[in-house]
Amino acid sequence: MHTDLNRRQFLAAGALTLTAAGLAGCTSTSKTTSFVGPDSAAVEKAESKRRRTGTTVQRALTAEPTTVDLAGKEAKTWAFTGASATEPIRGNIGDTLKVALTNDLPDPTTVHWHGLALRNDMDGVPNLTQKPVEPGGAFSYEFVLPHAGTYWFHPHVGVQQDRGLYAPLIIDDPNEKGDYDQEWIIVLDDWLDGVIATPDQVMKELGKGMMDHGGMDMGPMRMGNTLMGATSPLLGGDAGDVYYPLYLINGRPAADPETFTAKPGQKIRLRIINAGGDTAFRFGVAEHPLTITHTDGYPIQPFEAESVVLGMGERYDAVITAGDGAFAVVAEALGKQDQAVAVLRTGSGSAPAKDAKLPQTKAPATAADLKAIDAVALPQRAADRTLVLELTGGMEKYDWAINGKRMDMEQPMRDALGLKEGERVALEFKNSTKMWHPMHLHGHTYQHPGGGPRKDTSIVLPGKTLRVEFDADNPGRWLTHCHNVYHGEAGMMTAIAYQTS
Ligand code: C2O
Ligand code: CU
Repeated sequence: MHTDLNRRQFLAAGALTLTAAGLAGCTSTSKTTSFVGPDSAAVEKAESKRRRTGTTVQRALTAEPTTVDLAGKEAKTWAFTGASATEPIRGNIGDTLKVALTNDLPDPTTVHWHGLALRNDMDGVPNLTQKPVEPGGAFSYEFVLPHAGTYWFHPHVGVQQDRGLYAPLIIDDPNEKGDYDQEWIIVLDDWLDGVIATPDQVMKELGKGMMDHGGMDMGPMRMGNTLMGATSPLLGGDAGDVYYPLYLINGRPAADPETFTAKPGQKIRLRIINAGGDTAFRFGVAEHPLTITHTDGYPIQPFEAESVVLGMGERYDAVITAGDGAFAVVAEALGKQDQAVAVLRTGSGSAPAKDAKLPQTKAPATAADLKAIDAVALPQRAADRTLVLELTGGMEKYDWAINGKRMDMEQPMRDALGLKEGERVALEFKNSTKMWHPMHLHGHTYQHPGGGPRKDTSIVLPGKTLRVEFDADNPGRWLTHCHNVYHGEAGMMTAIAYQTS
């Protein structure tokens, strides 16, 4: 039993009352819960507490069909005019960001600001926090930049994120000393749009279901635009299910790599973002140990690694000290036997080969290796509430879900989980599927257990449970979902909403 609400009624209601049958697992006695709305006083109040500089950063973004050049191959796609992998949006902590979005796509769209604890009505989730922006329409996003770090943005409608619609959002803290000479933003992506199919066509193919290919050990095999048997021990088995002809760093395939120039001995801060749709990457720079400094925008105790694994939506910052010569910067597409490359050049020498191998003499770093610095660690406190999110479904029926319930974006509050402002909340991602999932929470940065890193997107391996905690201090209606674009669209999402009382 659930209440069907049409979109307009839904958004008109500031604090909506609905029958939440699934909430406490009680079906006999119906329980009525009211949730804070995106335009409620609670959201305004949280906003008024944010620190502001008084500076406004203004940008215009147009989402539109365009053509991109991929090493000489023209691909029709959708992208933003006004921002891209190499044209980030940037501001200082406390600045107001004002982005005028125009939708020149044939489909509705929105913009979601991934990882930010921003005001709820600017979070860009259709029907949950705003009406989708119709073709020919416009929307003005305006919010205070809440914390420093490496973020990014993309649409939150369908599988649009697997086109060219993404760009970094970098927030600087003028008081952060920053012990480096240069900065390089590195956006990783898996690309198929306009080359083999559109993401919508791929979604249709996947939706028909695939055979269980667990245990297949013949390497990845392409079937239409899907992939069978792509496995990676780093991901606990099945690595991904979509075939991509190209892997990109900053919009460029390995045959036409970006070259970053520096001087030998210079310290370079890398801001690495996985903007992929269905690919985890193992990232590293040949002959350069990484000193990892940040996870999803937040500082950690510096950790030295040879390489680092990034699931979709994750960001890591790392500092390297440049050697002398030309070096391969490699993002290995896990399980897919292909890679994205770029070049770091500080001197003469021939450019590295596009199939240059990244060494693996040590286990690649993952979030489990890392610790938050004290300044950003959550104070010790017992959890007031535990929300169990069982990841369910599989390839056969393509019925990915949370707690067995597939999200319907037309009625996103139907199976919403409730929490209250002020609570310490534990999220328990329990992966009962045969595949890894990069799970993402909107509007908050949780902490991994045992003093682990602050993050907003985390890899959950098959058969494992990841318990993270956060303080409920940003009222509104938020989403948690798998950042595999196709899993999310299939229904592996749920709303997590603040109750009014
Ligand atoms: Cu980057 Cu809900 O997403
Ligand atoms: Cu998933």
